Amino acid sequence: MAVIVLAIAPLAGGCAASEAHTRGGDPYFEQAGNSGYDVEHYDLAITYDPDTGRLDGTADITLTAVADLDGLSLDLRRLSVESVSIDGEQADFEQLPPDDSGRGGELLVTTDPPLAEGTTHELTVGYGGEPGQPEDATGGLYGFVSTGDGAFVANEPEGASTWFPVNDRPSDKATYDIALTVPEGATGVANGEPVGEPRTEGDRTTFRWQATDPMASYLATAAIGNYDATTDEGPRGLPILNFVDEDLPADALATTRESLALQPDMIAFFEKLFGRYPFTSFGAIVDDDDDAGYALETQTRPIYSGVAEESTVAHELAHQWFGNSVTLETWADIWLNEGFATYSEWLWTESRGGQTPDERFDALLEEPDDSGLWQIPPGDPGAGELFSDAVYDRGAATLHALRESIGDDDFFALLRSWATDHAGGNVTTDDLVALAEEVSGKDLDEFFQAWLYETGKPSS
Ligand code: ARG
Ligand code: ZN
Repeated sequence: MAVIVLAIAPLAGGCAASEAHTRGGDPYFEQAGNSGYDVEHYDLAITYDPDTGRLDGTADITLTAVADLDGLSLDLRRLSVESVSIDGEQADFEQLPPDDSGRGGELLVTTDPPLAEGTTHELTVGYGGEPGQPEDATGGLYGFVSTGDGAFVANEPEGASTWFPVNDRPSDKATYDIALTVPEGATGVANGEPVGEPRTEGDRTTFRWQATDPMASYLATAAIGNYDATTDEGPRGLPILNFVDEDLPADALATTRESLALQPDMIAFFEKLFGRYPFTSFGAIVDDDDDAGYALETQTRPIYSGVAEESTVAHELAHQWFGNSVTLETWADIWLNEGFATYSEWLWTESRGGQTPDERFDALLEEPDDSGLWQIPPGDPGAGELFSDAVYDRGAATLHALRESIGDDDFFALLRSWATDHAGGNVTTDDLVALAEEVSGKDLDEFFQAWLYETGKPSS
C-alpha cells in the first residue's frame, strides 16, 4: 500500500505529485503531512526581522523512509525555497502554491537515487519570505504570526508550515534544535532548554534551544518579543523558565505574575493525579499581542496572548500530559486533548476552593438540547469545530460522566494509566475506550457512543 500511495513521480506532472501527497494526510487536513517518511529530528536556524517581517531559515531534517521513495513532499507555504540538498548533494525541487485560503503549500523534492525503505537521510532546506499573519480554517490567526515587535507562534492544528518545512501530522513526533536570531534587545524563545548563553554578533542575538523529548510539529514554537525572563523551580528542581512581555498593561501583568507563581503547585497537584511531569522543563511565554486571543500548550512552554489567567495556566499545564506526551493520532480525536485539559482545569479549580466538577457538570446539563454543546459530537466535531465548546466542555463532561459510571478509584487509575502507558506516544479514542473497559471491567461502548458521537444530550 505505502509504495503506491507515497512514491512521487519524478516531478513530471504536478498532478501526480499532488495526488500522491493528498493521500498521506489527516482526514480533517488532507493537505498536511505525509506518511511516506518519518522525521526524527528538526534542526532549525531561523533569522527574523520584526521591522521588515522577513524570516530566513535553514532546516536540517533527519528522516527515515518508510517505503522506497523517489520523492519527498513537505508542507511549506508562503515561503520560497532557495536550495535543497539530500545527504549533502544538491537535489531538484518544486514548490506547489497554497490554495485560495493560503493553506496546502508543498515542497516537492526529487530523490535520485531513490531513498530505500528503512534508510535515514539528512535533508537540508534553505528558505525565506514573509510569514505575515496566517489564518486557520476558521479565520483565526495561527502559525507564525508577525507582531509589531516579533512573533506569536501557535501552530495548532497544521500551521507549522508557515515557518518551516515540515511533515505536519501529529503522529510524526521528532526532537528539535531551534536557533533564533533576532535584533539585539529582543528575545527568542523556543521549546525545551537553552543551549549556552545567547550570542550577540553585530546587532543581532542568537538564542539556541534544544527540545530532547519527541514533539508533534503543532507544538513547536519560535516566539520573539521584548520578554522579561524569570526562573522558578518545580518538583525535583524542574526548571521553570518564564518569558513575560515587558509591554503588558499593569493589570494583565499582575494577573499573569500571580498565575505563573502557582506553576510549581500546579505541577505537584497534577503529578499526584497523573504521574510525573513528562518533560525536562516548563514555563510560559506571555506576549502582549492579544490579536490571537487564545493560549496554546506549546511543548514545555505554553504561549498566552495578552494575559495568563490561572485556569488557563492549569489547562495548558495539563496538556503537557494530555496532548503533548500522549498525543492524538488524527485531529478528529481532539477531545482527547481538550476534554482532558478542561477536566484537569476543573480539578485544579476545585482544589482551590472554587466550583466543583459536579457543579460544572450540572450547569452544562442545563444547556438547551439544541445548543452546539449537545449538537456537535466531540468525538468527530469536524475540522471547523476543533475548538468548540462541545470539544472542551462536553469532552470534560464525558469524563465526569465516566467517573460517575465507573467510580473514583477506577476513574483516577484510568487517568494515571492513560498518561503513563502512552507517554511519548500517539493514541486514538478506541485506545481510551479499551483502557477504560479494562480498568473498570465494564462494557462502555454505548456510553462512549452517546457521549462522543451522537447529537443530543446523553440520557446517562
Ligand atoms: N489547544 C489550545 C488550548 O486549548 C487552543 C488552540 C486554539 N487554536 C485556535 N486556532 N483557535 O489550550
Ligand atoms: Zn486546550
